[in-house]
Amino acid sequence: MISLDLHRSDDFVASHLRDGLENRVKAAHRAIINKTGAGSEWIGWRDVLASPNDALLEEISLQGKEIRERADVLVCVGIGGSYLGADAVIKALSPYFRAAKDEVVEEASLFEPGASTGKTPEVLFAGHHLSGKYLTELLDYLEGKSVYVNMISKSGTTLEPGIAFRVIRDWMEARFEDSSRRIMATTDAERGALRALATEKGYRTHIIPDDVGGRFSVLTPVGLLPIAAAGFDIRSLFYGAVAMMKEIDTSENHAALDYAARRYALHESGFTTEVLSVFEPSLSGFGGWWQQLFGESEGKEHKGIFPTTCLFSTDLHSLGQYLQEGRRNVAETFLTLGDDRGHITVPEWDSDADGSTADGLSFVAGKTFSDVTQAALHGTMDAHVQGGVPVQHLEIERLDENALGGLIYFFEHVVAIGGYLLGVNPFDQPGVEAYKRAMYERLGR
Ligand code: PA5
Repeated sequence: MISLDLHRSDDFVASHLRDGLENRVKAAHRAIINKTGAGSEWIGWRDVLASPNDALLEEISLQGKEIRERADVLVCVGIGGSYLGADAVIKALSPYFRAAKDEVVEEASLFEPGASTGKTPEVLFAGHHLSGKYLTELLDYLEGKSVYVNMISKSGTTLEPGIAFRVIRDWMEARFEDSSRRIMATTDAERGALRALATEKGYRTHIIPDDVGGRFSVLTPVGLLPIAAAGFDIRSLFYGAVAMMKEIDTSENHAALDYAARRYALHESGFTTEVLSVFEPSLSGFGGWWQQLFGESEGKEHKGIFPTTCLFSTDLHSLGQYLQEGRRNVAETFLTLGDDRGHITVPEWDSDADGSTADGLSFVAGKTFSDVTQAALHGTMDAHVQGGVPVQHLEIERLDENALGGLIYFFEHVVAIGGYLLGVNPFDQPGVEAYKRAMYERLGR
């Protein structure tokens, strides 16, 4: 369940926008459901949820199991929508310190001695930037390990993953006789260079549906295979999204519609930047996914809210100053957890005769880190509102696969409504071609 509290942003909405938006939001909501709006040929991300393919979920889970049993590292090669979703979910659900939670494989028969350590594999990413230093050091790190590779590209021609994959494929072929079993590809059903290569080499493949754009693809094999390999329950993730879609589709008073309406009203009232603020570091990757979803969907025709993220309280010691007193065009959405598992308690410290301690922090002794985080959350929200920042607050009960699936669909629906309210097609991204053209020209294409 997602709860939404908008009251801290009420006073920032221009008076002419307080009423009258409801009908436009409902119309946008219906245009998504009925596929009657701009770019509706790209709404396949709803279709995959409307008709769950359980056989595919099972197949991906089994491949994930194979990777967990045979690999020390899974390298996922992809950029933008072909990596951010998997990165977000894996970071959100993984323990901070892997060694403490590593599972030992139960069915040892499936991997040859020395082929794998038998622990949950690390999922690493490549091809998501142009750092040659990163790639060199990645290959050094992989030396001597049991490696699987998942190349993810819908077009098969994107430069960053394409050139990284050339290097990684050579490396794999030089080291593993069964490299064509260890390399998998997630790509278009028929078209593209990667599809042709996969057929030639006999790689196992998964299909990115034609009508699903990159930033909406986390609940397709693009995101699901890496997430399954990292040891998470993709069925629960997927069905969390299915449930959220049903919940939103059957209510025109859902929090998703209220949040979409408020974001748009704030945009029209001059708040052209939205910060997604989280207190749990493992949600930083989710912020990266959210940022692409909103930036690429809304930022066109010189319109849209600029999406950015903050990790608190870390960033309260850096960007906190700007948020409190900088240019007043920033709105903030806090994304918090009902149960943050912060039960660890602040210990007492020897006090002086007058009861004070050298660090002056005895007032926190005996409180849990959750208590302190709650005080920081509410204190920050109050301070930012007083400083002129409209605050919206979203909370999910807990951080698990099912809740994350729901949250993913929630934001996808919100951004689709947001695009329609702005009058743009939320499902294309024509602007990203410009840098590619200029770069290719310089590279002599
Ligand atoms: O959202 C998008 O469409 C983009 O971010 C793409 O996912 C990204 O450019 C990668 O494209 P491809 O999967 O074709 O390599």
